Formats: sequence, C-alpha cells, structure tokens
Amino acid sequence: MEKDPVISSVYDCTVLELDKHHSDRKGNLTVVENSRTVPFEVKRAYYLYDVPGGESRGAHAHKALYQLIVAASGSFRVTLDDGRVKRTFLLNRPYQGLLVVPGIWRTIDDFSSGAVCLVLASELYDEDDYMREYDDFIRFKQ
Ligand code: TYD
Repeated sequence: MEKDPVISSVYDCTVLELDKHHSDRKGNLTVVENSRTVPFEVKRAYYLYDVPGGESRGAHAHKALYQLIVAASGSFRVTLDDGRVKRTFLLNRPYQGLLVVPGIWRTIDDFSSGAVCLVLASELYDEDDYMREYDDFIRFKQ
C-alpha cells in the first residue's frame, strides 16, 4: 500500500491506537511491531526532547518516508498540510501514534515541558528524501 506522495492527503494520516498493557501498580507498556501495528518496517527511531517552549520543529515533507509520531512523554501539536488541507493533532498519550504518509508537510510545536517526541521511521536518514522549502513542496504536489 505505497502512497503516491504527490496525491497523498492529510486524510491518509491517522491516529493509531497502540497496544497498552496495564499492570496494577506497575504501570503501562506499549508495543509497536513492524507491519502489524504500523503499515511499514521500522528502520530508524529518533526522538526530540528538551525543545524550548515556543519553539517549533519539523517544517518539512518527505518524498518516500512513512513515520509514526508518538508523544512518549508530555504533549505537543502536529500540524499536517497536503497543500490543500491542514489538520492539527494534539498528541498527549504514549499509547497513540500519528501515522504520517509521504508527501505531507508537517510542523510540530506547543511542546510541553519534558515532552519527548518519538518518531519511528520506515527508512534510514536520507537528506535527499526531504523537501525543506514550502514552495518546492507545493510545486511537488501540483
Ligand atoms: P531536522 O530534520 O532539522 O529536525 P526537525 O525537522 O525535526 O526540526 O534535524 C536536525 C538535525 O539532525 C539535522 O542536522 C539532521 C540531523 N538528523 C540526523 O542526522 N539523522 C536523523 O535521523 C534525523 C531525523 C536528523
């Protein structure tokens, strides 16, 4: 189910409810499994943390990368934009993950103090997969 990044839309991006294993008095555990929980193979994980209040991250789109974005701690806001429609998601639960398909501009802001933004990604880091200029992104989507 590869998404064509030129025609992908914000409605292809959804919040996935992840497994939450609760043990009384011992807290919770959430699992993400390749191809089962997420519709891609996870090749890379990275996390954003210590983001100062008022700062925003992201502001780019990918040509081929799928991502699952999780508020592993705290909260932040993710704004997705397909060149036509914008959707905003408040992520604040470690057992929810926002699936972002290729061809979507994203910005992340409103980080709470102590927020950890965990990203599971379908490919290794490749700067050539990035669109970092909004005008280039809009041209790509047309
Ligand atoms: P950047 O993409 O600018 O972060 P964001 O878009 O979330 O604000 O990445 C910041 C720096 O980290 C940049 O120099 C590239 C580097 N980086 C890697 O080396 N590997 C990675 O997997 C990622 C995501 C970033």
